[in-house]
Amino acid sequence: MRITGTGHASMRIDTAAGSILCDPWVNPAYFASWFPFPDNSQLDWETLGNVDYLYVSHLHRDHFDAEHLKRFISKKATVLLPEYPTSQLEDELRDLGFTSFFRTRSDEVHELDGGLKVMIQALISPTDGPIGDSSLWVEHDGIRVLNQNDARPSDLTRFNELGHVHAHMLQFSGAIWYPMVYELPENAKTAFGKQKRERQFDRTWRYIDDLKADFVFPIAGPPCFLDDELWQFNDIHGDEGNIFPDQSVFLTEYAKVGGTNAVVQLPGSVTELSDGGRTQSTTHPTPVDEFFANKVAHLEEMRERKRPALEAEKASWRHPEVDVLGELKKRIEPLLEESIYLAKGVGGPVRFDLVSYDGEEIESIVVDFPGKQVRPYADEKVRYRFKTQRELIEHLIFIDEGDWVNSLFLSCRFSAARIGQYNEFVYAFFKCLSEERLQYAEGWYDEHEKSVDAEDIEFGDWTVQRRCPHLKADLSRFGIVEGNVLTCQLHGWKFDLPSGRCLTGVGHKIRATKNS
Ligand code: FES
Repeated sequence: MRITGTGHASMRIDTAAGSILCDPWVNPAYFASWFPFPDNSQLDWETLGNVDYLYVSHLHRDHFDAEHLKRFISKKATVLLPEYPTSQLEDELRDLGFTSFFRTRSDEVHELDGGLKVMIQALISPTDGPIGDSSLWVEHDGIRVLNQNDARPSDLTRFNELGHVHAHMLQFSGAIWYPMVYELPENAKTAFGKQKRERQFDRTWRYIDDLKADFVFPIAGPPCFLDDELWQFNDIHGDEGNIFPDQSVFLTEYAKVGGTNAVVQLPGSVTELSDGGRTQSTTHPTPVDEFFANKVAHLEEMRERKRPALEAEKASWRHPEVDVLGELKKRIEPLLEESIYLAKGVGGPVRFDLVSYDGEEIESIVVDFPGKQVRPYADEKVRYRFKTQRELIEHLIFIDEGDWVNSLFLSCRFSAARIGQYNEFVYAFFKCLSEERLQYAEGWYDEHEKSVDAEDIEFGDWTVQRRCPHLKADLSRFGIVEGNVLTCQLHGWKFDLPSGRCLTGVGHKIRATKNS
């Protein structure tokens, strides 16, 4: 089996029974904020795109690159489709010209022509990706690989059941806007970023330990930021609170916990797995150490080369004819009317401060969840406040974007302030700005709330419910207790055991009793 690194979360898997191209991403994503790093635009995509199967794990724009898929990937490829609750991924791929689809069932092994076996595990909570994220397991000739991607299953049991995995590809770096965009004192931001960076690594070690594969491939990030306005997010400034450590940092940190089996691929690196998967040999287009030692120079060169495309894209965002308040009213108020769980979960007004083109004026608009309306800000206390350029919202309206997480928020082109804890319902709502998605999310939360978590486990002096109140991670694997606080390492949520209170999110009480 041969694995060719094609950048970020992308790879091509070649076997004697066929080839699979995963998540090819080349063009900048999220308002041109994210670019793949190292640059993969100069690979021979005509050849790489001539494949038997295409796997797009989910619709995040650093995994689903419509322009690239349209131009370079063979439309004869059969799409291996995760089992998602909405048909959006399939619809978008059909629009690009793909016609052959193999609909997998989550957690079920499928045997394709020539004995190639695949299984896709689909995660479908409203917080997983843009309504869905997935991992791909592949077996051929006794060699098994798991492309876990950036998915966060509560455990890897299902993959372990299928036999020893030889190569495990997974995310280790950040892919979010927290804490950089928050209006906080610099030292607080650094402290939160540092915690986040440590948590990301801890989660990665846990998954690696769960699977115990022969080889571990750190993938799916970090991206690089080439716009001058975002340049500070690249991990090149010695900021210990930066959440985007790269593969060379991964190697250092992994070595500290005893890891010796990492394989870092650059775009164009080729790994051959042989000896039943127990041996690997990798060739690189350029030495990996040297590449990362010269990271700043590579980034600067890339910034200059991509500047014209970036400027052209930025020039396309302004649509002064759009009546932002009127359009938001038209689009969002019917959804507020229908929303029960999400609106209740948000629980208060959310304010958007839109900065005019010249930076001189600010128009404040409130999405009033309890009042179920969108209106001008009326000097009230708000739960969340976002500040961004008016042109970004104009563009979202212009392209009729139904997922502001997969566009505005991941762009990091905003600042934010909030009162109280992180509220996942705010982001869940703004990724569901369509009838289909909103109904799905409402249904999911309804079911989730009604399901009873009966099983308990022991944690030293405490008896605690086994499943995390957040997204049901098994706390016997992901939980750690320090003093009276339990932390679930899957997403780092904390719970005060004596009161059961969640210290990270609204609601989500945990059941815990002190053993006598
Ligand atoms: S499942 Fe998310 S913190 Fe536990």
